[in-house]
Amino acid sequence: MKTVKSFALAAPLALVALAPAAAQEFSKELIEKGRYLATASDCVACHTNHDGGKPMAGGLSMVSPVGTIMSTNITPSKQFGIGNYSQAQFADAVRKGVRGDGANLYPAMPYVSYSNMTDEDIHALYAYFMQGVEPVDEKAPETKLPFPMNIRVSMMGWSLLFRPNEVHKDDPIQSDEWNRGKYLAEGAAHCSTCHTPRGVFMQEQKSLNLTGGQVGAWYAPDITNDKVHGIGSWSKEDLVTYLKTGKLENRAQAAGSMAEAISYSFQHLTDADLNAIATYVHSVPSANAGQASGVTRFDKGSAGNDMAAFRGKDYTDGLRGDHAGAQIFAANCASCHGYNAQGTKDGYYPSLFHNAATAGDNSINVIAAILNGVDRHTEAGHVFMPPFGDQVNAVVQLNNVEVASLSNYLLAQYGNDKLTVTTEDVQVIREGGPKSNIVQLARIGMGAAAIAALLLAVGFVWYRARRKARLARAA
Ligand code: HEC
Ligand code: HEC
Ligand code: HEC
Repeated sequence: MKTVKSFALAAPLALVALAPAAAQEFSKELIEKGRYLATASDCVACHTNHDGGKPMAGGLSMVSPVGTIMSTNITPSKQFGIGNYSQAQFADAVRKGVRGDGANLYPAMPYVSYSNMTDEDIHALYAYFMQGVEPVDEKAPETKLPFPMNIRVSMMGWSLLFRPNEVHKDDPIQSDEWNRGKYLAEGAAHCSTCHTPRGVFMQEQKSLNLTGGQVGAWYAPDITNDKVHGIGSWSKEDLVTYLKTGKLENRAQAAGSMAEAISYSFQHLTDADLNAIATYVHSVPSANAGQASGVTRFDKGSAGNDMAAFRGKDYTDGLRGDHAGAQIFAANCASCHGYNAQGTKDGYYPSLFHNAATAGDNSINVIAAILNGVDRHTEAGHVFMPPFGDQVNAVVQLNNVEVASLSNYLLAQYGNDKLTVTTEDVQVIREGGPKSNIVQLARIGMGAAAIAALLLAVGFVWYRARRKARLARAA
């Protein structure tokens, strides 16, 4: 079955490949279509060095447990970019993770998601990259991984096992809108890359699609239609608003890699496409049989504070006592979020109850928000909360004990009071999130498959690298 599919796919591409790139003149419409798809796929976010590099000229470093992977120059420069790529070679790079010279790409390039792209859309993307992107004749720094990770052929096995070898096909039972939404959400916009948990080999566990996954220091929550754990209580319009602005009042706000995905990509999508994505995402059931019952994540907690307990006492004295969390809150957070954590009327500073970050099924995003803050640029404006865990730029730095006390106060008072945060939990997030168990597997010598899978971890850690780069810039 699989071979038949790939043959069917190769035929139309082979035809286009016969014509050399330079001889073709692509229409303006086609190039524009390609530009839009490139935005939806967020190519520019990875293929640009955000410290003053030119768009698509590569050179963004993605730190991984095995070494640093550099993104490549994908401008049409013939010497340093992909100017000599035929369309078939381009298609193989984007959908199969195979470079022009036949070498395998590391899955830091998200070809697993892009593998669903239609030939038509690959054609438009190709037209854009050949004639809509400014060529940059600069060599991007090379990736140099230590042995054995430098053996690219090890990626072939991983790719055969875990890359879906199937271009999207419309499901005739579903509406056109749903099909368009699925195509974008599972492909270009790659929601599942972050929102689906990973298995032992860092592959997406498709049976748990969109039920939540760890992305570096942040947790991409359950976005299935489960009413309690997922976003089944949101309307379609709610989801569109969130994807456009990064915020849904009294429910959730986007920081970390979600803020970046919205800033670079989702906010620029058409309303029709955002509605399509919302229609599809709203149809994805949770892996748990039947809907959970109870209060939704977004309705937990209420206004109030614990300050009467320590009024009149010395601030530093209290820091070891039962009310340390409330004191740290009063000193560092209440000025923006309000003494009762009610936020501001205009909603710019959100309430910390009825808030996905404090009421999640785990405590990761409370800790991540305190340590990393929020920094989001959209057409709706610039949203900023200072990071309290930054060693270099933070105005106020909170140590692990303080962050744990504060988190426990927030959880108990405003959110999911069943959770407890330890100083170890804080340290893990401070270091950029849990390390993959693949690292362990590779260490005890599980062989090429494990090593190959380890490399996928790279795809996660780059979000961290980008954040660091941004902070360094801000300094
Ligand atoms: C999450 C980060 C990320 C995104 C998003 C991304 N890429 Fe990549 N891409 C990479 C990295 C990293 C490499 C180099 C991997 C390696 O060296 O094995 C790469 C390699 C490539 C290559 C091979 C280039 C060469 O040097 O021969 C092409 C072509 C490419 N990407 C195109 C695209 C296009 C088109 C898009 C958007 C549709 C895109 N990429 C989106 C990270 C990304
Ligand atoms: C690069 C990783 C990444 C991608 C891609 C991504 N997300 Fe997210 N998403 C996150 C993270 C991390 C959060 C948590 C942000 C926070 O709380 O500050 C999040 C939060 C959300 C939330 C809020 C949920 C809640 O309970 O707080 C929704 C809804 C959402 N994402 C939908 C989507 C959809 C739909 C897509 C695809 C169109 C998508 N995301 C793509 C990482 C990602
Ligand atoms: C200078 C003002 C300011 C201060 C001080 C501040 N915050 Fe925030 N906080 C914000 C803004 C702005 C947002 C994001 C609103 C948005 O995304 O639209 C935010 C968001 C959050 C979120 C949600 C993050 C997410 O990703 O969902 C949490 C949790 C939070 N703050 C907790 C705290 C805590 C705890 C403190 C004290 C250590 C604090 N804040 C101090 C302004 C502030």
